[in-house]
Amino acid sequence: MIEARSINKVYEDGTEALKDISFSVKRGESCSIIGPSGCGKTTLLFIFSGLLRPTSGEAIINGEPARLPDMKDVALILQDYGLFPWKNVFENVAIGLEIRGIPGKEIKRTVDSLLKSLNLNGFEKYYPKQLSGGMRQRVAFARALALRPGILLMDEPLSSLDALSRENLQNFLLELWIENKITMLLVTHSIEEAVFLGKKIVVLSPRPGRVVKIVKNPDAGSIEYRDKEEFFEKCREVRQSVEAT
Ligand SMILES: Nc1ncnc2c1ncn2[C@@H]1O[C@H](COP(=O)(O)OP(=O)(O)O)[C@@H](O)[C@H]1O
Ligand SMILES: [Mg+2]
Repeated sequence: MIEARSINKVYEDGTEALKDISFSVKRGESCSIIGPSGCGKTTLLFIFSGLLRPTSGEAIINGEPARLPDMKDVALILQDYGLFPWKNVFENVAIGLEIRGIPGKEIKRTVDSLLKSLNLNGFEKYYPKQLSGGMRQRVAFARALALRPGILLMDEPLSSLDALSRENLQNFLLELWIENKITMLLVTHSIEEAVFLGKKIVVLSPRPGRVVKIVKNPDAGSIEYRDKEEFFEKCREVRQSVEAT
């Protein structure tokens, strides 16, 4: 469903961002990507979302090279929320559905149910500046999920949140993944987050990013995993390969 085939990316100014990146993520699988700052993680997600072209190699989504505008099945969630400050919560979540010409009643039903599942009901008329960081990020999730994407690409979506909001949203993502069989690619700085949410963890080297290791993580997929000995062991294993880079 998602496949990196020997992706290389060299920017116009000669910066080598990614080198020979290959891995694949099956339909319904979740994959975390972890690596030091500047190693090309955002570049890789932009390539998968069709916003950037690789210099060589291919990013395959649903069997085709990732290319705008045929990316209807893909949602990209960024760290800085990307909400429209002049639109309220309801309008921010509804915008993609409106662009697609979905009837108003159906939009309301979809948005109401998403806001409820993200604990945002009652905040429909609030504007982004009136919300905490955690709430804004939940609005961003609601907006992305309104279009029912099969693939969710996330670039450190939780990294600016406090610990509690972060854990709540991690649980939300896990449940979303379990219930909807979404294919997830999550870029994160946090080893614990990578291990909690990724059935597979791709460890990248410092720039230019290469795949150092792909750690299998079959025990991921339950809220309880966070408290298990296997979880701590897996975190140690990932930490060792991150530190070895
Ligand atoms: N448009 C660009 N032109 C030149 N270099 C860039 C551009 N965008 C990012 N880079 C460089 O490419 C490298 C990888 O960046 P990025 O993908 O943002 O890394 P990460 O998300 O892992 O922190 C960095 O050294 C960054 O400075
Ligand atoms: Mg980045």
